[in-house]
Amino acid sequence: MSNIKFDFQSKAVIVTGGASGIGFQITRSYLEAGANVSIWDYSDKALEQAKSDLASFSSRLHFAKVDVGNRESCAAAAASVPWPVDILVNNAGITRDKSFAKMSGEEWDAVINTNLTGLFNVTKSVFEKFNSNSSNKRIINISSVVALYGNFGQTNYVAAKAGVIGMTKTWAKEFARKGFTVNAIAPGFIKTAMTEAMPAEAVAQMAARVPAQRFGEVTDIANACLFLSSDEANYINGHTLSVDAGLVVG
Ligand SMILES: NC(=O)c1ccc[n+]([C@@H]2O[C@H](COP(=O)([O-])OP(=O)(O)OC[C@H]3O[C@@H](n4cnc5c(N)ncnc54)[C@H](O)[C@@H]3O)[C@@H](O)[C@H]2O)c1
Repeated sequence: MSNIKFDFQSKAVIVTGGASGIGFQITRSYLEAGANVSIWDYSDKALEQAKSDLASFSSRLHFAKVDVGNRESCAAAAASVPWPVDILVNNAGITRDKSFAKMSGEEWDAVINTNLTGLFNVTKSVFEKFNSNSSNKRIINISSVVALYGNFGQTNYVAAKAGVIGMTKTWAKEFARKGFTVNAIAPGFIKTAMTEAMPAEAVAQMAARVPAQRFGEVTDIANACLFLSSDEANYINGHTLSVDAGLVVG
């Protein structure tokens, strides 16, 4: 599937978790649309791979090795970004799935720290780096469809992703007068390396729950990002956009 044709020339974007999976496609789509992108990721291996895969865009790329769960790490990364920022995509996320009975305190802490506190840390560290001349500043937070309906075995993940939606609504109210819109995207089942590695039967069972009977592509999420962060979407604020082919209504 191709990318929506938006023009992001002269815009600078930060994508957390931008070195692989959905975040990598978000990065690539912004680059193809002309933006400068700063990839924030904690995986050396993923950062190296992204650097090599995106070599043709190297003059418009910046890389920061950062753990979004660590405030000092975020502050150092923010200080290294060479451009005033127009768009922040809070995408980095992890899972540590277990039923509530089996979930350890460490598994709870790890997911809350990355998937919820991480957004606080990153946004706090870059807030003053946003382009003060822009009245179209954007923050996009990646939540999940499970935040809207709960999911067996994901107490930590669902709590964090539901928290992301609450934080999005609050920032939408607080930041609007400073020229921001703040929105969330709630992806459904998206094809990534993780789903490729799953048994075909499990994938088929999951796909059967989707009204469209299929998984989404990483470009589906990237396209939603490009739209919500475009100047054309400047009256959309505090919204959570489900990109799930109708899974949430099923
Ligand atoms: N894949 C799906 O079907 C799906 C569905 C709903 C929501 N999501 C959400 O979309 C986002 C991306 O998911 P994905 O499937 O591409 O995951 P992924 O594991 O493929 O990629 C996540 C990226 O984030 C990075 N990362 C993780 N923790 C980090 C940290 N503490 N600091 C910095 N970087 C960190 C990883 O190194 C990796 O590059 C996540 O927030 C996830 O919860 C994914």
